[in-house]
Amino acid sequence: MSFHPIEQAPGRLNRSELAVPGSQPQMFEKAAQSDVDVIFLDLEDAVAPDEKAQARKNIIKALNEVDWNTKTMSIRINGLDTHYMYRDVVDIVEQAGERLDLIMIPKVGTAADVYAVDMLTTQVEDATGLTKRIGFEHIIETALGMQNVNAIAGASKRNESLHFGVADYAASMRARTTVIGGVNENYAVLTDPAEDGSRQVHWGDMWHSAIANMVVAARANGLRPIDGPFGDFSDPEGYKAAAFRAAVLGCEGKWAIHPSQIALANEVMSPSAAEVDKAERILKAMAEAEAAGKGAVSLDGRLIDYASIRQAEVLVEKAKQIAA
Ligand code: GLV
Ligand code: MG
Repeated sequence: MSFHPIEQAPGRLNRSELAVPGSQPQMFEKAAQSDVDVIFLDLEDAVAPDEKAQARKNIIKALNEVDWNTKTMSIRINGLDTHYMYRDVVDIVEQAGERLDLIMIPKVGTAADVYAVDMLTTQVEDATGLTKRIGFEHIIETALGMQNVNAIAGASKRNESLHFGVADYAASMRARTTVIGGVNENYAVLTDPAEDGSRQVHWGDMWHSAIANMVVAARANGLRPIDGPFGDFSDPEGYKAAAFRAAVLGCEGKWAIHPSQIALANEVMSPSAAEVDKAERILKAMAEAEAAGKGAVSLDGRLIDYASIRQAEVLVEKAKQIAA
């Protein structure tokens, strides 16, 4: 290990994260009763400019009055380039800070953006006498944010997670997309002709390097990497495929922009019974190997060593958290 310690963000379950517009209070109860891990009440892009002030009031009332049970509660504030943002933080933290766990900062571009919201949040927390510290979630969804992702990830003790905001990222990059978070048939490899002249098209994932880059920045700073939206909520298979790709790269959660996507995210982002069983057998085999003075052994015909223990421990820990 490096001599540089990595402090881990609070270990919240974040398999699914539901977006709920702050301007649609009729959706709040259903969200509160769902199986989602994290809810963000939105003040930003799902809310029209002339509804922003009312959405803020709806959110304050709901945070104070709705029974959100054990859910982690977040608000997505407006961008730092708008005049709505300071009041989002001041009003909501002042009037409903007790039930607010996280603030989601959209279109974050530099470490100084994080510093600015940290300063404002700290003042409001101190002035209202809040004793718990509200955490930050950052949406990496612009070219600037991706360029500065490492500095953003390390910019505040409040940081808990980085989210890949594919819709705005595509706009910022002027990428050619078809559906939010989906694939594009033009991002593909055409094989050389076979003997009979036939060729195959292998579609690729145009978001691979962006998500992988964000995961590195998140993990190197002890944060949770979370994959963002998948727009076509009538395509559960497409959603699951996107979620699996993100999970394989290290993401531990994915957004749900529709309640039907919550169960899909929870399923993909939870270790399967077979994975947990294998991890437990690895830990047992390694404990026996250690007792016999060995550093590596084989299990089911494959090598396992101390790196296998670390992977297995993460998996077993996650399974315990879900069970709890
Ligand atoms: C989320 O905010 C996105 O732009 O994808
Ligand atoms: Mg966005």
